[in-house]
Amino acid sequence: DQPGPLSGRHAIVTSGPTHEPIDPVRYIANRSSGKQGHAIAASLAALGARVTLVSGPTRLADPAGVTTVHVEAAREMLAAVEAALPADIAVCAAAVADWRPALEAGQKLKKQQGGALPPDIRLIENPDILRRLSEPGPTRPALVVGFAAETECVLDHADAKRRRKGCDWILANDVATGTGTFGGDDNAVHLLDDRGVESWPAMSKQAVADRLAARIVDHFAAPDPS
Ligand code: C5P
Repeated sequence: DQPGPLSGRHAIVTSGPTHEPIDPVRYIANRSSGKQGHAIAASLAALGARVTLVSGPTRLADPAGVTTVHVEAAREMLAAVEAALPADIAVCAAAVADWRPALEAGQKLKKQQGGALPPDIRLIENPDILRRLSEPGPTRPALVVGFAAETECVLDHADAKRRRKGCDWILANDVATGTGTFGGDDNAVHLLDDRGVESWPAMSKQAVADRLAARIVDHFAAPDPS
């Protein structure tokens, strides 16, 4: 590991979308590129942390100096995160699918002849990885950070999410249509903790990652009083 202010610390970062299988050839997914999560993994590693990046399918190269675990579905992501514990830091940047098909067909679903109805795909809820990581207990990372992608009332919704999930910090960004956050290179975020809000100017996802990593260094140098 690279020597630095986070030397001796283990960080788990989730990144990318998840793919939830319908049958062997089809899946449900979302538009996450993985850019923000991968950048965070690289920034933490550059500051000396040992980093386990648990990534859904993306087009990105594995960041150098990071252990990358490739997964597809949310349940695999949770299992890989749990296998990587214990950790000092967890950053959940993955866009985990909220739901998955209740049943994964063993064979490709076939179009029915003669005007039969298309298949009904019943959905069930996926595990919430951020919430699991935030649960109090011996393996809870000292600092758990989540993301909130909101299209309206960004700060209110993000703060409610922070409390609901039980994480320490939330990075909130506005993903309303036209902001270009999804798949884009820039991100304007607000960092919310139990003391308030810090709004960062629009900057590249790499700069957001570097700033977050620097905030994490400060946090461990002088932990928030709580
Ligand atoms: O509830 P919502 O998906 O808006 O919350 C976003 C945050 O929760 C992100 O940090 C995301 O990585 C995390 N999350 C998760 N597992 C889920 C859903 C969201 O870790 N199943």
